[in-house]
Amino acid sequence: MCGIVGVLGQHEVAPILVEALKRLEYRGYDSAGIATLNDGHLDRRRAVGKLINLSDLLVHDSLPGKSGIGHTRWATHGAPNVTNAHPHRAGPVAVVHNGIIENFREIRAQLAEKGLHFQTETDTETVALLVQSLIEEGKSPRDAAQEAVRQLDGAYALCFLFEGEDDLLIAARQGSPLAIGYGDGEMFVGSDAIALAPMTDRITYLEEGDFAVITRTSVEILDREDRPANREIRTVNIESSQVDKGGHKHFMAKEIAEQPRVIGEAIMHYLSDDGRSVELPGKGIDFTAIDRLSMVACGTAYYACVTAKYWFEQLAGLPCDVDVASEFRYREPPVPARTAALFVSQSGETADTLAALRYCEGKAATILSVVNVPESSIARESDLALPILAGTEIGVASTKAFTCQLTVLLMLALKAASDRGRMDADTLADTLAKLRALPSAFNAAMEDADDIAAAARKLAEARDILFLGRGLMYPLAMEGALKLKEISYIHAEAYASGELKHGPIALIDKHVPVVVMAPRDALFDKTTSNMQEVIARGGRVLLITDKEGKRITHGDAWLTLTMPDIDPLLAPILYALPAQLLAYHTAIAKGTDVDQPRNLAKSVTVE
Ligand code: AGP
Repeated sequence: MCGIVGVLGQHEVAPILVEALKRLEYRGYDSAGIATLNDGHLDRRRAVGKLINLSDLLVHDSLPGKSGIGHTRWATHGAPNVTNAHPHRAGPVAVVHNGIIENFREIRAQLAEKGLHFQTETDTETVALLVQSLIEEGKSPRDAAQEAVRQLDGAYALCFLFEGEDDLLIAARQGSPLAIGYGDGEMFVGSDAIALAPMTDRITYLEEGDFAVITRTSVEILDREDRPANREIRTVNIESSQVDKGGHKHFMAKEIAEQPRVIGEAIMHYLSDDGRSVELPGKGIDFTAIDRLSMVACGTAYYACVTAKYWFEQLAGLPCDVDVASEFRYREPPVPARTAALFVSQSGETADTLAALRYCEGKAATILSVVNVPESSIARESDLALPILAGTEIGVASTKAFTCQLTVLLMLALKAASDRGRMDADTLADTLAKLRALPSAFNAAMEDADDIAAAARKLAEARDILFLGRGLMYPLAMEGALKLKEISYIHAEAYASGELKHGPIALIDKHVPVVVMAPRDALFDKTTSNMQEVIARGGRVLLITDKEGKRITHGDAWLTLTMPDIDPLLAPILYALPAQLLAYHTAIAKGTDVDQPRNLAKSVTVE
């Protein structure tokens, strides 16, 4: 996924574009570039790697102009190098793009027949050349862009700049988010409100198929049928505190530390005034009207769904399916009428998850979503969108969003249990009271973080690491493995503890640390038996348990991290903390880029 920005300003735009790109860099950081118009003359500056490289370039090779576009890239087509860096240019037109044009090869072939030549391997350059060819046929920049966009298949958020047109930006979206910001005699375009926050809080989110013609004093939006569309101008407050590190070394550290507060806010948002039940917004959902719950997500959000499956089935007796989105839609699963489809996504823009949601439209009885961005595409296309209130999450490795997703999903499962007569009012009230104490348990656990950092420094020496868990701890083991591998680059994978003896135990020797996540719950004894199987073969176990668990296994494990006592139902939320901190400190020990790990982007808006 990439970040795009456009500015029609009253002052030099290069610094404004770079500042906006800084706020978009979490979306991708393989290369960055800007283009401006100076007295109608179009020029570009581009650099490979992080945005700082572009900033350095502009110091000694400035780019004047009061109109411009900018881009920070996560490479989809073409290697991350300067040639493939956006903005792409063809004659009088420059363009920045987030998404994938799926029919770019056909268009490229048609343009080649017209004698047009390509400089890059990218799909985006094809768009620029298509617009150039249409301008050369006599179309105006606006008409050429509109005709070109009509020919595109796939996902795109586009912003065009034209030589000689210093009061014109053209924007279009299909499948990738795009917003317009309203200034005082200025206009802005950006992938999200975060990018535009320093310039304006008045934002319009383009809808699917929208095409916008923008000047410093006007915005004309046409819908997918080319009809004039009125899109709401919202006031969106993005405090600067949401997008700075707040004194922490990394965004990930800040977001881990925010968890007690944001989990508490999520709980209170869905808790009834008397604290004894769960209240959903809008028309809510009647769980007696559905027979099955189908949950779909990607990555960390998928592990939140796998955890929720245990809760919905054990507490509410509601059968659940859980799928990764990229598999779900191509499997073409039947969706019986009395099925609720639930989509979990931090960004609300993940292309695979959005596509799966659209597959369920017209099939499922209702479409629910659990998201961190209420104005996102997934939220807007749901019958009921449940915000997780985690606040902006910048670190590419998801932390507070995961624990807030779990919190909201657990409250949803408790409501389902109550609706379906599987949990009486007092038991519900007692469980919600335990949930309200969770933030305090998080604070207590964070006081012992030093021993986690010490354990992480030992893990950093390994090449392969296994994570084991049973029951509710199994999806958490998967999440722990993902956290570790995506920021420390150490190969890590997770197994259900009981599965180890069916093959993976062949991997065990003294070089392979095994992280075992085991609160003293009903499955503890089974899990510690598996732990002994590892130890008996020379394996080194890092055990994450509670005080009683440590007492029972004292001395067996290579390392033991002790967590506060917690109801087993809530353990997956609390035990996410050591998993996150292990990954964080291991990455620190390895010297990798914690907030912007290689090859990754915060939200993947391409399939
Ligand atoms: C999580 O640490 C990863 N960055 C990634 O797996 C992420 O969870 C996944 O891409 C889904 O993103 P979403 O929640 O925004 O849909």
